[in-house]
Amino acid sequence: MAIRTAIYPGTFDPITNGHMDIIRRTLAVVDELVVGVALDTAKTPMFDIDQRAVLVEEDLGQLGPDAKRVRVVSFSGLLVNMAAEQGATLLIRGLRAVSDFEYEFQMAALNRRLDANIETLFIPASESTHFISSRFIKQIARLGGEIDEFVSPHVKVALQQHFTAS
Ligand code: PNS
Repeated sequence: MAIRTAIYPGTFDPITNGHMDIIRRTLAVVDELVVGVALDTAKTPMFDIDQRAVLVEEDLGQLGPDAKRVRVVSFSGLLVNMAAEQGATLLIRGLRAVSDFEYEFQMAALNRRLDANIETLFIPASESTHFISSRFIKQIARLGGEIDEFVSPHVKVALQQHFTAS
C-alpha cells in the first residue's frame, strides 16, 4: 500500500502546544509527516529559521515512538515546490477560529492553482489549545507572564533567553 505523506507547513515562531496538537492528530491519519519550517513567510520571525527548526525537533521528543514518522524540513521558496520535492500532495493546516478561515481558504486555493495536485486538509484546533497563537505567546513572554500551559519547557527557555538578551 502507498505511504501517505503530508506536509504541515508554518512559520513556527516558535512552535506551541497548539501546533503539537495538530501534529499528533495528523499522525493518526497519515503515515509520515513533514513539518515544513518556512523561511519565506508574510511574518517577520523573532527566531531565525535554524532556531525555529531546532525547537520543532526538540518538541517532537514528546511524541515517543511516533517521532520516527515525522521529519522537520526547513524550506525557502514556494511551499508547493517543497511538497513536490518531498513527494507529498497533502497539506495540513490547523484552524483555530472563523477568523483564520478567510486567509486559510485563500491560501489553499492559491496553492491548488500553483499545483493542481495539492490538497489542503484543515484540522480544527482542540478545545484545549484553540486560543494559543505564537504571536500572543511571544507577547506574554516578553511581558513576564506565565506561558507553561502554552509551550514546552525548552521553548519557554528559548523565549526567556531571547527576551533577557534583547
Ligand atoms: O504559520 P503561518 O505563518 O500561518 O504559515 C504560513 C506559511 C509558511 C504556510 C506560508 O507563508 C507559506 O506557505 N510560505 C511559503 C511561501 C509560499 O508558498 N507562499 C505562497 C502561499 S499561497
